[in-house]
Amino acid sequence: MEPGGALLVSLFMVLQVVLGSVQARGDGPLGGPASFTDRILRMQQELKAAAASPSASPSPSSLPAEGANPRVYRVTEYGADPTGKRDSTESLLAALAAALRGPSSGFLIDGIANYGGARISLEGGIYLISRPLRFPSAGAGNLVIHGGTLRASNDFPAECYLIDLSSPATKVAETASGGSAASSSYNYEYITLRDLMLDSNFRGGGVSVPQSLRTSIDNCYIVHFATEGISVRGGHETYIRNSFLGQHITAGGDPGERNFSGTAINLMGNDNAVTDVVIFSAAVGVMISGQANTLTGVHFYNKATGFGGTGIYLKVPGMTQTRIVNCYLDYTGIVAEDPVQLVVSDSFFLGDAYVTLKSVNGLIDGVNIVDNMFSGSNKGIDIVQLDQSNGPFMRVHQVVVDRNNVQGMRLRSTVARGSAQGNGTSWTLDFDPVLLFPNRITQVQYSLTTSGGSLFPRHCLRNTSENRVVVESDLAVRAMVFVTVDQGGESVARARQ
Ligand SMILES: *[C@@H]1O[C@H](CO)[C@@H](O)[C@H](O)[C@H]1NC(C)=O
Ligand SMILES: *[C@@H]1O[C@H](CO)[C@@H](O)[C@H](O)[C@H]1NC(C)=O
Ligand SMILES: *[C@@H]1O[C@H](CO)[C@@H](O)[C@H](O)[C@H]1NC(C)=O
Repeated sequence: MEPGGALLVSLFMVLQVVLGSVQARGDGPLGGPASFTDRILRMQQELKAAAASPSASPSPSSLPAEGANPRVYRVTEYGADPTGKRDSTESLLAALAAALRGPSSGFLIDGIANYGGARISLEGGIYLISRPLRFPSAGAGNLVIHGGTLRASNDFPAECYLIDLSSPATKVAETASGGSAASSSYNYEYITLRDLMLDSNFRGGGVSVPQSLRTSIDNCYIVHFATEGISVRGGHETYIRNSFLGQHITAGGDPGERNFSGTAINLMGNDNAVTDVVIFSAAVGVMISGQANTLTGVHFYNKATGFGGTGIYLKVPGMTQTRIVNCYLDYTGIVAEDPVQLVVSDSFFLGDAYVTLKSVNGLIDGVNIVDNMFSGSNKGIDIVQLDQSNGPFMRVHQVVVDRNNVQGMRLRSTVARGSAQGNGTSWTLDFDPVLLFPNRITQVQYSLTTSGGSLFPRHCLRNTSENRVVVESDLAVRAMVFVTVDQGGESVARARQ
């Protein structure tokens, strides 16, 4: 920027201070000084227009003067090569370091300096990197990295991630104020990664978010990871939105699908959300080992169940607390270990995709699998299956698998209805082909109707063993028996007895 431009900017800043003090005095637009405020606003706009005029062009050969344009860090100005030919690691790290030397204003959560939304702009370029991009110190927040492609070089370390929010030894707050500021237990807060293509070149992963708060990953395309597309460990509230993740670039039916490996998103923490995301190849779509995570609007067509893939793996036995709503499981399913508090609803399972409830310690409690659609190819695949290879589910409470609609697969449910016509003293309804849990009926309601005749037989429920309901009468009659059974667990009324 030419000296005249810098002068205009300083004048502009002085005026801002003046305007700030006018506003701070509390003079509203209706008071006397309003016209003075208007004049300053107009002058500000004129100065802004002058500062943005084409005559103020940066010199491409030298690094930008610190503080000249402190809110946007254009990586080419730090020497990065936007053609992706030369290694740009040092230049990109220099841009990140410059951003942390920029102005910050107060704190977000204690110990996280607020950078006001400063942006590190990749300017639509492709950059080759041979080491992860990390900030030089932790304790920073309200920063954006956006708008371009990062590609791992052929010697990128296989255990690393292209963008890594792990904590170096020092924190911004400590270096900036001699260690007096409270140090946060989080590395970063409100870091936004937006409009990025991350190509891990089949070496390492895409993004690592350890111990951070309110990280936003938005409109990113993350491919060619060997390990994980996005890894979240500890911290809270990483929001992954409107993004596309795949190990291989494919649109389904890929001849190499059997070989897909890696995990697209690994959530090893609490309170994260994955919203409106497509996962198009990886052995596991989303692996969850923390609580209170939410998946909505996620389309999984990573690796088909038939090839050993899993859409969503819930590895949180005994404390699941996961909501999967409005997702699309496309030839790949859900596995939940000892689920306790899990909702799977309003989702679409295509291509014989199903839900597996896997017993680890035999506990399942508070599970709703309701209002989903299942579509298959008439191979007789159950929509919900139990994996009891480690032992049966012994403690079953509040499990509702119901109201799912099914085509070309076998319905499984914890609630079933049926009727039996007969002429005699005994009516048997076999619910075993539809009930999810073997030999478990906890509630039965039935009614016996006879048409015509003057007989009023006495009748009762005799047996519910092996998911078969037997009703008997004292007199031989021609009657219809209607039965509803439930294996969901103890009702409130029964629990109170
Ligand atoms: C899958 O991997 C195996 C073993 O590495 C290899 O022989 C095979 O060619 C691969 N298949 C495809 C389609 O890439
Ligand atoms: C019911 O069975 C009895 C014999 O067990 C028979 O006499 C009677 O006709 C049957 N009624 C009907 C409606 O089938
Ligand atoms: C209930 O039926 C099972 C067979 O399904 C049988 O073994 C059992 O003895 C019956 N129980 C009673 C009380 O009749």
